[in-house]
Amino acid sequence: MKIVSGIQSSGKMHLGNYFGAIVPFLSFQDQGDSLLFIANLHSLTTIRDASKLKSLALDIALDYLALGLDPEKTTLFKQSDIPEVTELYWYLTSITPISLLNTKAYQDKINNKIPNDVGLFTYPVLMAADILLYDADIVPVGKDQVQHIDLVRDIAIKFNIAFDSNYKPGKISGIFKLPSAVTSDVYSIVPGTDGNKMSKSTGNVIDIFSEDKIIHKQIMGIKTDSLSISDPKNINAPLFQLMKLFFDIEQDQSIKEGGIGYGNYKQMLIDMFHAKFDEARLKRKHLINDLGYVERVLIDGRNRARENAKSVIERVRQAVGV
Ligand code: ADP
Ligand code: TRP
Repeated sequence: MKIVSGIQSSGKMHLGNYFGAIVPFLSFQDQGDSLLFIANLHSLTTIRDASKLKSLALDIALDYLALGLDPEKTTLFKQSDIPEVTELYWYLTSITPISLLNTKAYQDKINNKIPNDVGLFTYPVLMAADILLYDADIVPVGKDQVQHIDLVRDIAIKFNIAFDSNYKPGKISGIFKLPSAVTSDVYSIVPGTDGNKMSKSTGNVIDIFSEDKIIHKQIMGIKTDSLSISDPKNINAPLFQLMKLFFDIEQDQSIKEGGIGYGNYKQMLIDMFHAKFDEARLKRKHLINDLGYVERVLIDGRNRARENAKSVIERVRQAVGV
């Protein structure tokens, strides 16, 4: 089984990224041939600063390695290191109807004032190239990415119909395999400190690798109501939904019965955060002092990924006639 996923390098890793995207990906690491790339070409839709683009890509590599990605098992590489991906992107744009790309994700991004450039509009076609280039069977992603994977299937079907006369949807497979998205039911949407979806763009995050005092400030800043210590609390409040990421809150009777103040719960969350992430936080500090190792992992990943891409890109070139 081929498992492929990517993560856009656009800022610091937070709990939403971890539980929504990294945990699902790492849970597949032992189940097949897995590839994970840093989507630094996608990041160009928002970042126009070369040194920032570079350092963010390296940050993601450090984050994943620290959080348990094993480069022996998973091919870790930078999207921009694979020229075949931009080549395939063009073949795919040539058969993708404009109407397919006017997605909710695209509209949300324009509404959030991301520059409305062609690259932003064709973002899902580059994702299609990322996935189809490696004959992926499954794509572990956060819930908000499922709409994109559905689109990738539509693009693959269009291509198969256009260029493969033997293709029979559902019966005879075509040039491209149809990939399936896999999401985590447990952590589909991690709330931020204000109760809305945790996201870098809204600044309601709890980072994983920031300094202790920043993490503590973020956790202490989780929005709560004005109930007193003795009052029973609402288990659906963002604080408890965040605690739920670390333990089964149903077992804690005090939440429903009252008797503990929000400050104490926040301290509990800080302690649980450290118990879970301190090992990875320390590992990341060691990795920063061994960037040569990280570079070697990425070069090895690039070579393995290109090897993987060879047969598909040959198949596609032949099919289109170049
Ligand atoms: P952000 O919204 O902070 O910019 P990204 O869009 O870069 O995050 O998301 C990277 C990955 O993390 C995606 O697969 C996305 O689905 C997942 N993800 C981001 N935020 C959350 C969240 N709050 N809950 C669950 N998954 C999330
Ligand atoms: N769009 C994804 C994100 O925002 C990153 C990504 C790019 C991706 N190409 C992909 C994810 C292919 C899965 C498969 O994180």
